Amino acid sequence: MPEHDDIVTGEALEFDRGVEERLRPIDLNEFVGQPGLRANLRVFIQAARERGEPLDHALFYGPPGLGKTALAHVIAREMGAPLRATSGPVVERAGDLAAVLTNLQPGDVLFIDEIHRLNAAVEEILYPAMEDFKLDLIIGQGPSARTLKIDLPRFTLVGATTRASLLTSPLRDRFGITARLAYYPPSDLVQIIERSSRILEVPVDAEGALEVARRSRGTPRIANRLLRRVRDYAEVEGDGKVTQSVARYALERLEVDEAGFDRMDRELLLVLIKKYRGGPTGLETLAAAIGEDKGTIEEIYEPFLMQEGFLERTPRGRVATQRAFDHFGITLPEHTRSGPRPRQAKLL
Ligand SMILES: Nc1ncnc2c1ncn2[C@@H]1O[C@H](COP(=O)(O)OP(=O)(O)OP(=O)(O)O)[C@@H](O)[C@H]1O
Ligand SMILES: [Mg+2]
Repeated sequence: MPEHDDIVTGEALEFDRGVEERLRPIDLNEFVGQPGLRANLRVFIQAARERGEPLDHALFYGPPGLGKTALAHVIAREMGAPLRATSGPVVERAGDLAAVLTNLQPGDVLFIDEIHRLNAAVEEILYPAMEDFKLDLIIGQGPSARTLKIDLPRFTLVGATTRASLLTSPLRDRFGITARLAYYPPSDLVQIIERSSRILEVPVDAEGALEVARRSRGTPRIANRLLRRVRDYAEVEGDGKVTQSVARYALERLEVDEAGFDRMDRELLLVLIKKYRGGPTGLETLAAAIGEDKGTIEEIYEPFLMQEGFLERTPRGRVATQRAFDHFGITLPEHTRSGPRPRQAKLL
């Protein structure tokens, strides 16, 4: 069972292994939410299929658990092609990638997860492969070295990353389709939970699903994980059905935050509030105070907190909003607040 602090992390846990494949959407119709992206993909896929060509290379980025890997599988399925999967840290040498590429069949979908972690030598191989479906092999060394061009089958590369800012621009520029995945509203998560509950044979009513959805940090992976945890309480302490009261009880026992916060969300806001009186505080100062990398804070933690209205980015730095103060039940005397005036000053 995951540690409490982990139960709401967006990152995959041992607890999710095996289950994720079962819960993965099969095709675009089963992929819930992300309406703009889904509509575009539908058009691109249909157009490519009608031309009898592989789909353009696609890059998906965004925080963990939002469906990047799921989309790679969906694309392969919709294109009627197998998915060949690898990841940035696994492909260590240029030769490793050359081996993968030369083994592709026409139309295959090659999925490279954590694509920001490819090293420079491997990336060099990828450029002509993506652009012209060619492999440039260097034979020999020194003055007698020469390059050999090998034709590759036309394939689709699907890349995924949580850290888009770490991609080099030549790599980013070679994707025809680039999309950032957004956090899901509770209504989408309810649909995902209802589908998972059918697959896992966990009876859930509408209010129970909504209760789980609300605390899932806008993240399908967390929604599926919480559903499985709440089921245990429903079976042991109820009649097996996940209702609103069972869900509430279970989530309280699991100490899942009402706002869906994970450990880092809480730490970031609490440091900002307690140490810096709500800010504004520069990103570097904040990063040093919580011992986390700046880019990770910007790309993985802040988007959720900003979307939910707990944090603002201002020219002078990060500011905890009144909503954040309220969430933790913290009030500061008004004259000691250094941030902008709270919107509702009722508590101060
Ligand atoms: N739009 C969606 N509809 C239905 N299920 C989804 C959707 N998005 C994600 N899921 C489910 O949530 C789980 C996590 O999704 P996925 O593994 O694709 O996330 P990810 O973005 O690749 O995360 P990571 O950054 O950790 O690799 C999977 O079980 C997946 O099937
Ligand atoms: Mg993934």
